[in-house]
Amino acid sequence: MKVVVLNGPNLNLLGTREPQIYGSTTLADVEASLRAQAKELGIELECFQSNHEGAIVDRIQAARAEGVKFMMINPGAFTHTSVAIRDAFSGVAIPFVEVHISNVYKREAFRHHSYLSDVAEAVMCGFGTLGYNLALQFINTKLRQAAAQ
Ligand code: DQA
Repeated sequence: MKVVVLNGPNLNLLGTREPQIYGSTTLADVEASLRAQAKELGIELECFQSNHEGAIVDRIQAARAEGVKFMMINPGAFTHTSVAIRDAFSGVAIPFVEVHISNVYKREAFRHHSYLSDVAEAVMCGFGTLGYNLALQFINTKLRQAAAQ
């Protein structure tokens, strides 16, 4: 039951980056909270952050050989630009949840389009950093359902 959590560009700055939009929780806090939740759920969790599109594509590609069952990604600004990340997910055929801390639909028009949403299993948007935990709860439910079949 391995799950990989990906965070894209500028999410390493969480906690200090535009706190009025993204809050004061750091990425280390988010990852620690997810690790604790995963431990309780009996899920093996790995977290990865990169500011580089190619590194994210490489991480998605590697996931297939590792037998990763589900992924979660906050692609940051790559949400609105990256055909490469979309194609990587389609290429490995690993289901994933797209997470956004802010409600992108309340923001600038260029944030309203995502290259990932129509190939994602589900999208979390505007729940703050709690969205990561809610997404992991959803992933756990889906994995248990698949295991029971
Ligand atoms: C974001 C929203 C994106 O538009 C933005 O570029 C980010 C963060 C969010 O979590 O709300 O970097 O994905």
